[in-house]
Amino acid sequence: MKILAFETSCDDTAVAIVENGTKVLSSVRVSQLEHNEWGGVVPEIAARLHAEAWRPVLEQALAESGLEMKDIDYIAVTYGPGLQTSLLSGTTAASFLSLLHNIPLIPVHHVYGHLCSVFLERSIEEIKFPALVLTASGGHTEFYLWSNAMVWQKLGGSLDDAIGEAFDKLAKMLGLGYPGGPEVSKRAIHGNRKAFNLPIPNLGKGSLDLSFSGVKSAVRRLVEKEREKIEISLGSSLAILSPISFSDGFVNDLCASFEETCGRIFKKKLALIFELYPEIKSFYFVGGVSANSYLNSVFKDFVQRYGKKMLTPKKIEYSTDNAAMIGSAAYWQIQNKAVLEPAVQYIEPKSRLTL
Ligand code: KG4
Ligand code: ZN
Repeated sequence: MKILAFETSCDDTAVAIVENGTKVLSSVRVSQLEHNEWGGVVPEIAARLHAEAWRPVLEQALAESGLEMKDIDYIAVTYGPGLQTSLLSGTTAASFLSLLHNIPLIPVHHVYGHLCSVFLERSIEEIKFPALVLTASGGHTEFYLWSNAMVWQKLGGSLDDAIGEAFDKLAKMLGLGYPGGPEVSKRAIHGNRKAFNLPIPNLGKGSLDLSFSGVKSAVRRLVEKEREKIEISLGSSLAILSPISFSDGFVNDLCASFEETCGRIFKKKLALIFELYPEIKSFYFVGGVSANSYLNSVFKDFVQRYGKKMLTPKKIEYSTDNAAMIGSAAYWQIQNKAVLEPAVQYIEPKSRLTL
């Protein structure tokens, strides 16, 4: 079964063709670099760039797979959560193609797509249930108990910032550019993880929720203090004229301490979840932040101690937003008959959607 999938929930225009939920026949993505100069995604710019990109990206995905539209069994599209105008570009394109080629349409939840990213380029038997999944990206940070491919239960999640958002904000404060996660992690490699003592939130005994606002405020205070120090050393008139540049030592140490604190925040919850749900066999770390090598190695060591197997998406491009994961999720939805006939021509995008 071949599924053509679209993902346009934020600032990537992605199209992929996936066979039977696991085999990626092609996966093409164009990232919108125009947002970099704004330090975050600008919805109007995102919508325009999706509208320009979807057709060439589709053509490339078809060409790379060697397939034509007549070979496609289903069309899948992310319908939420995400930026409303970005979602609308994908749902419009997918609905249009569904009608034009008389192919059934499957609306897919973005976070469910991230869950299914672990299936890509793996054999189905490799995925062991029940599993604990941590979805960590720019828009969501949540724990799911995943009982089988189509059944999951949310255990907890961030009450404020998503972890990726916290990485992005730290990068912005330090002038490292957007998206911040990869930059922060590059700088952290050279830093001292114990240089700054950042707070671990206490959300109450037994809470499976997370919070990153405390650690974000603490790093903001440190950055402001460092800025004041630099301004005093430059003299006030020079400080106004020249943009502040932090020392490599300060930036590297702060990035390293931030990552170390995030690791500890997650480990505290993982320990509690494994205690409450001893039946969990494996741990899957998905979403853009699962590209982070420090968190990966910390989690790997930690879950091994509990005798669990850890997996992340097979390639970094399947950790960050991509259409292949949407194609995999749609495959499982088809097993559950969650499919729209081609006559249903309009999928309403839902910017706020819970799984
Ligand atoms: O899943 P994703 O591509 O899009 C959303 O659904 O948000 O995740 C993007 C997020 C961004 O916040 C980005 O900074 C973060 O993932 N990210 C990372 C790394 N690579 C991407 N965060 C930490 N370390 C990384 N290596
Ligand atoms: Zn995502």
